[in-house]
Amino acid sequence: MKYVLVSNWKANFTLDEACKWFELVSNFNNPGLRIIASVPYPYIQFLAQNYRNIDVFSQNVSHVLGGAYTGEVTISMLKSVGFKGSIIGHSERRHIFNESDDVINKKVLILENNSSEIILCIGETLIERNEGRTKDVLYNQIVNCLRGFVNFNLLTVAYEPVWAIGTGVPIKIEDLVDAERFIRKIFKQEFNVDDIVLLYGGSVDKEFIKLIKNETTMNGALIGSASWDPQNFLKIIHNFV
Ligand code: PGA
Repeated sequence: MKYVLVSNWKANFTLDEACKWFELVSNFNNPGLRIIASVPYPYIQFLAQNYRNIDVFSQNVSHVLGGAYTGEVTISMLKSVGFKGSIIGHSERRHIFNESDDVINKKVLILENNSSEIILCIGETLIERNEGRTKDVLYNQIVNCLRGFVNFNLLTVAYEPVWAIGTGVPIKIEDLVDAERFIRKIFKQEFNVDDIVLLYGGSVDKEFIKLIKNETTMNGALIGSASWDPQNFLKIIHNFV
């Protein structure tokens, strides 16, 4: 079983703060738990070159390969500075920057074609949940975002209910158990994959991580705000190992 904790920095941290976070967190070294930091683009090269024990990911990648696209950051740029992979389809990208499943699918395939890892985020909104459409939404996001994808060794899936992100209120653990069972079933049924690496994200803190560990068979968590203070993130790490 693979165990993974991802810290998603979002649009936070100066370079100085980034280095302090890595100084502290990279002291943790346990081969049984992989730590990933998804950092802003400008810090990838420095962090990837200077620290061990933490894998450096981006939070996005362009859906184009290069050319006249002012402001885009492409896969070849990211590979040239030593990133390992990227979060794709985070709900903030979907809802604030209007990324569709089609665009997300393009990004997933670009990463796959470049042997880079993908953390694909999926999750329903509160309206979708209240209307009883959670399972349909998850199913559609999975099959649409993974159309044409074959190399499941490169893939991690993060189930992140949109209404739980940044709200301080994680999902009820029994609902997570249910969602986990459903998502694993889709991977078996649609792709014949038994062991997809599956994370939960949405207001994970040092208490909720214990429930994930003890009451589910999820592989870990994707953590935003509770991971930004490195001491707090270390507590989450210790509660998970
Ligand atoms: P949160 O963010 O832990 O602050 O809810 C999670 C995420 O954005 O993936």
